[in-house]
Amino acid sequence: MIRHLLSGADLDADTATQILDTAEEMAAVAGREVKKLPALRGRTVVNLFYEDSTRTRISFEAAAKRLSADVINFSAKGSSVAKGESLKDTALTLQAMGADAVVVRHPASGAPHRLADWVDGSVVNAGDGTHEHPTQALLDAYTMRSRLGRLAGLSVAVVGDVLHSRVARSNVLLLSTLGAKVTLVGPPTLIPVDIAAALAPGTGVCYDLDTVLPSSDVVMMLRVQRERMSDSYFPSAREYARRYGLDGPRMARLPEHAIVMHPGPMNRGMEITPEVADSSRSTIVEQVANGVSVRMAVLYLLLGGNNR
Ligand code: NCD
Repeated sequence: MIRHLLSGADLDADTATQILDTAEEMAAVAGREVKKLPALRGRTVVNLFYEDSTRTRISFEAAAKRLSADVINFSAKGSSVAKGESLKDTALTLQAMGADAVVVRHPASGAPHRLADWVDGSVVNAGDGTHEHPTQALLDAYTMRSRLGRLAGLSVAVVGDVLHSRVARSNVLLLSTLGAKVTLVGPPTLIPVDIAAALAPGTGVCYDLDTVLPSSDVVMMLRVQRERMSDSYFPSAREYARRYGLDGPRMARLPEHAIVMHPGPMNRGMEITPEVADSSRSTIVEQVANGVSVRMAVLYLLLGGNNR
């Protein structure tokens, strides 16, 4: 097993599949009356969040607690710790506390990689800037596999603000390793030139959502990340929704079996309408539940739970 999980590219097909299979076993724990395993008793997991988070943070906390680890939550919001030097000082503090795993979310792309140089424990990237979010890609892959029965050969459309999306990057890397075919869809201003080829050969790009819908098994809608936009990338929210938003009539163009995903948080009415988000094709709530099982599997495997 790998020591850190920093990128979707850290996972080969065997390792990724091992994580997904382990997550399936972890999911069984969630159905029990006592949702706890003793696997990580006496180990310390630190959640180091320098950026806002609801789902990711809560689910890492729940995952560590269900494995009986001691959990320390560190929130840097509002302090001046976002500079490289301070991150190093924080790392040394975590080191002194004997953290076995550090789960880090940081606005700077690459911060978790730096952290991994400074601590002895495992580092898990819970989202770094616009770069990567590998556990989100794993929970997305888990959700697709459990709904559609396989990953190899699936056609996955990743739609919207690809430019700012760490979710998109990690998904392209992981899904192509697992044999799915990804097409990035959005306005040209939000799809970086050459991104498809740079991440994984075989990744497609299309600027017209209606063209890709009839042949998609999965449509993954991305949030328009206005907080990361200093420019106007499209004329108006209405115009964006008209061309790239998923609404009822568009959803009807999908094959019968196709599912609709979104990592959350959603801009309801912009990239997705409430009708679609709350429909039976939507896996949005399932993705959150699966996130706990997948993060349990990641912590368990990284911390050597399988060797104990
Ligand atoms: C995403 C993130 O923070 O990268 N959310 C998540 O982790 N569920 C996507 C987003 O913020 O749009």
